[in-house]
Amino acid sequence: MSTVTVIIDKKKYRTEQGEMILRVARREGIDIPALCYHEGLSPFGACRLCMVEVVAGGRPGITTSCTLAATDGLEVKTATDGVVKIRRGLLELYLAQAPDAPSLRQLAAQHGVTHSRFVRERQKDAPEEKCVLCGLCVRVCNEAVGAGVINFTGRGPETKVTTPYREPSNACIGCTACAQVCPTEVIQIADVRGIRSVITWSDTKVALKQCRICGRTMEPEPLVQEVHRKIIDLSEEFKDVCIKCRQRYRTVKLHHMDMAKTK
Ligand code: FES
Repeated sequence: MSTVTVIIDKKKYRTEQGEMILRVARREGIDIPALCYHEGLSPFGACRLCMVEVVAGGRPGITTSCTLAATDGLEVKTATDGVVKIRRGLLELYLAQAPDAPSLRQLAAQHGVTHSRFVRERQKDAPEEKCVLCGLCVRVCNEAVGAGVINFTGRGPETKVTTPYREPSNACIGCTACAQVCPTEVIQIADVRGIRSVITWSDTKVALKQCRICGRTMEPEPLVQEVHRKIIDLSEEFKDVCIKCRQRYRTVKLHHMDMAKTK
């Protein structure tokens, strides 16, 4: 991969050809807001908040920096009057959609938007109606977790994120990654009596494991299996043991080893 020079807000930066400008900017400490971007996921270009103005080396005009690849001589400006105006308008629209979302409110405030001029036609109170369709949950579930539980369905104003046929999913491993990346915090999850209910995804249910030693509820069964399969090959004696009991076991074992050394 060759190295190129890009110019962001009149300052030159060296980067790899093809690296997305939003990523370069963030690495260099340049503040460009983004709602649908995550370092570990593919760019999606949905929220449009990351817009920048291309002034040289590419097609002139305003475009999303999360999907703008670095090429030699590319020059962008991140905060022209036009960019700031569009960005603020978008933030107002998102605030109208999800007025109570703390991280969204914080992001808006950082960019000078504390209230919205827009009012939704129909006031919708169901949490999932406050989704801003950033697609982070879909991408984390499909790309990072590999479970493919949810996707977009419908068109235009009827677009939603849901499970196939809006039925409970048997592919969900109960990892909660979707809820963790959601900027509007609308994904509802509840753990009750050994069952994790992913309420927002058609009330999908996943069984939680119980610690063999203390009986405490642990992570969901399919998540534990997945972690062991993909990441660590935990010895059989630890597979049904919660983290606290594992740590206790290790502490006791280390203590015995220290005692043995001093004898
Ligand atoms: S971060 Fe680029 S469009 Fe959302």
